Amino acid sequence: MIIKRPHDIQPSEITPRGVYEGRRRFMKLAAAASVLGAGGVLEPARAQEKTLGLPKLGNVAKSRFSTAEPLTAYKHITRYNNYYEFGTDKDDPAEYAGRLKVRPWTLAVEGEVAKPRTFGIEELLKFPLEERIYRLRCVEAWSMVIPWIGFEFNRLAKLVEPTSKAKFVEFVTAVQPDTMPGVHLPVLDWPYVEGLRIDEAMHPLTILAVGLYGEVLPNQNGAPLRLVVPWKYGFKSGKSLARIRFVGEQPKTAWEKANSHEYGFYSNVNPNVDHPRWSQKRERRIPDLFARRETLMFNGYGEQVASLYAGMDLKKFF
Ligand code: MTE
Repeated sequence: MIIKRPHDIQPSEITPRGVYEGRRRFMKLAAAASVLGAGGVLEPARAQEKTLGLPKLGNVAKSRFSTAEPLTAYKHITRYNNYYEFGTDKDDPAEYAGRLKVRPWTLAVEGEVAKPRTFGIEELLKFPLEERIYRLRCVEAWSMVIPWIGFEFNRLAKLVEPTSKAKFVEFVTAVQPDTMPGVHLPVLDWPYVEGLRIDEAMHPLTILAVGLYGEVLPNQNGAPLRLVVPWKYGFKSGKSLARIRFVGEQPKTAWEKANSHEYGFYSNVNPNVDHPRWSQKRERRIPDLFARRETLMFNGYGEQVASLYAGMDLKKFF
């Protein structure tokens, strides 16, 4: 593997670009498709999913915010991942994230709040859980439909009482040098940090996910706790959260630090604003190999979130 300094890193590495990479992935996808037959497109809705058999989550309510679109199969959700702490290939997280230590786990919530607190994961699992079936649109122009289990971020926020100085929220994910081979490489400026404006964070669609398909999150999907913001590109959804800070200034995110020209702070799904190196107008729904569907403004959640951006030039604040 070639070691690069952060400013040398082409975020094309989160993109199937480049001949050998593209070809390698194509071969893998083609192999997967041949196992599925018929191009791998005919996944029945719940497909009687064979899961990893992780602990089940009880008392999960249905949500009115769920989409009725067919779900992406568990095997694809858990084997086609981006989790650079475990490697940059799509199958690296499934292969290596098993090492991640997810117990004990704490989440520190601090900054511009009246009642800073550290939560144990067991406490967080007691929040009223909902199944939220959301579309996930990756900046690389693929998408999935994922039955997350989680709770609204605003419930957690209310417990720590953000002050009037809290204008943004910074999400800092875990660094475990002994379990994460990727953090020894300068792929990104670790830890992986993401951020939201406070009104985006408090929006009812923004959740902290603790599970999917009825079970606790597999490590490769961000166990034990990750952010999910369905109207933004997938990279905003930091995995394995360790710290949440309410802050006055817009946080510097890991991808902005790596390449601010290509990855903006807002990163709302927007078919009208192309990535500098590829179009964002269409997307490939995993595991389809070739079919492309139109990408929807705000990933189809415009009715709920467009008002957050009233009057903003979304080409400038991309
Ligand atoms: N969080 C951390 N800590 N590290 C990462 O590399 N990748 C992001 C996001 N969260 C990433 C992360 C990207 S690019 C995407 S598309 C989603 O996680 C992928 O989530 P999934 O693998 O569960 O589909």
